[in-house]
Amino acid sequence: MALLKIVHYPDPRLYKVAQPIATVDDNIRALIADMAETMYAAPGIGLAATQVDRHVRLILVDTSESKNDLKVFINPEILETSGQSEHEEGCLSVPGIYDTVTRPERIRVRALNSLGQAFELEADDLLAVCIQHEIDHLNGKVFVEYLSRLKQERILKKIKKQAREAM
Ligand code: NI
Repeated sequence: MALLKIVHYPDPRLYKVAQPIATVDDNIRALIADMAETMYAAPGIGLAATQVDRHVRLILVDTSESKNDLKVFINPEILETSGQSEHEEGCLSVPGIYDTVTRPERIRVRALNSLGQAFELEADDLLAVCIQHEIDHLNGKVFVEYLSRLKQERILKKIKKQAREAM
């Protein structure tokens, strides 16, 4: 296993649309293992392949307190949504930035697991937020794009300042 480098906003690689995975093979399972290690080390509760510059439709989520409930979604599709809720979101690609995003409250999602088997899952609350946030990454969307133009400009300024200070 290996830690992967996480691409940071506003890197243009975050805007690429990920391609479906045709075969769930050992290469994909190796990527899943590396992404899991990277997500837990960060630490984070979700990671999309896009964020580690691999543009395939794969996301990992673990919203458990104990960090031992890794959920793998390959080629995830949201089948149904209902309700609406607001959550404060953050992102490993946008370090130090948290803001409120409104999304559907409940979702039903279909995907393949790490063995290539299809499954469906109903999710609400934090898990639903996290799955939607990560699927957005596969579509080239970062959560800050839900915020006002003014907030996005402030975030970009803050990130540039952080980058200067890190040099
Ligand atoms: Ni994110």
